[in-house]
Amino acid sequence: MMPRVSVTRRVHFSAAHRLYRPDWSDERNQEVFGACSNPHWHGHNYELDVTVEGEVDPETGYVMDLKELKVAVEDRVVSDLDHRNLNREVEWLEGVNPTTENLVVAIWGRIAGHLPERARLVRLTLWETPRNYVEYEGR
Ligand code: NI
Repeated sequence: MMPRVSVTRRVHFSAAHRLYRPDWSDERNQEVFGACSNPHWHGHNYELDVTVEGEVDPETGYVMDLKELKVAVEDRVVSDLDHRNLNREVEWLEGVNPTTENLVVAIWGRIAGHLPERARLVRLTLWETPRNYVEYEGR
């Protein structure tokens, strides 16, 4: 049996956002979302760990070429998000309140199905700050 190994690529993007619900008052938004609800926006330096799993190809010794993974994530995610306003500038986040949880689910949808057959997307870990991160396994 071929050993199955998980492989992770870490990418970075910086983006602005505001957490809020338009159907709530500014006071209610402030109460629930705190500083992240600042009407004048603010930014985060996000780190995204993309983990794929698969059999080690006996010929290359790779699960998948990390260059390919890097390019896929850059094209499908990072180029759309980096230095953008997540509330206003990203088509695939339209109508999404950009919490880290909502972001990681949307990012999954951008990557899953766009990787080589042999590498299965198994986990995304999205860091909003060095102290806060969320994980998603597509469920
Ligand atoms: Ni924030």
